[in-house]
Amino acid sequence: MTRRKLLIGNWKMFKTATEARAFAADLNTESGAAQASVDLAVCPPFTAISALVEALPESVKVGAQNVYFEEQGAFTGEISPAMLVDAGVTLAIVGHSERRTLFGETDAAVGQKAVAAVKHGLTPVICVGENLAERDANQTAEVVARQTRAAIAGLSAEQVAASVVAYEPVWAIGSGRTPEPGDAEAVIDGIRKVISEDKGSTAADAVRILYGGSVKPENIAAFGAQPNIDGALVGGASLDASSFARMATALAGGN
Ligand code: PGA
Repeated sequence: MTRRKLLIGNWKMFKTATEARAFAADLNTESGAAQASVDLAVCPPFTAISALVEALPESVKVGAQNVYFEEQGAFTGEISPAMLVDAGVTLAIVGHSERRTLFGETDAAVGQKAVAAVKHGLTPVICVGENLAERDANQTAEVVARQTRAAIAGLSAEQVAASVVAYEPVWAIGSGRTPEPGDAEAVIDGIRKVISEDKGSTAADAVRILYGGSVKPENIAAFGAQPNIDGALVGGASLDASSFARMATALAGGN
């Protein structure tokens, strides 16, 4: 199974719509980025989604950083899958560690969000990862297995195959620290085995699993070279168009 490489930028709470338009203009002038032989996506804040959908080339997809699992209703501050689809969004991050730790998102809610996203044709980007205490206690495999199982519980094998998982060790996010690429590979291989147990080997072979946490132009190729790592989910280094373009090129094997 050949899985196409995927680079996703997660802007978190950075950039206004005006700043997003400037990013798109800069990215369009970066030769190679949009044409790279990898799939590209950017997840801006909700308020910049429309600007990016208009300004980015068709080849760069626009994603959301979160989505709610209800269709509609009295859920102040939440955004439904249908609203995202209508805005031109094609993928949605679910279960990012900042949502889990700062906003109390549970494993069960992440599973509900994945189901709601898929139901509306959005690709869920399911984030899993251990924190430092869990890593120090040798619980990494157990934690990511639990999070993965809960996130995919309501999805069929075909739906899992078309989804994306991002392994993001919490201690690596925004810290400048990363695991060795071989260590991330081992955890991701374990995630694939869990998916195989629950949903079968076809789904496990097809699902794209990314690494995330302090990825930058200088280290992305080493992660992407691992057989089970299909790309990266990038925060800080995705905010600059030139940096994003360099990561796309590096992931494509350009340098
Ligand atoms: P970082 O964030 O690349 O800034 O470490 C990654 C993420 O949180 O998705």
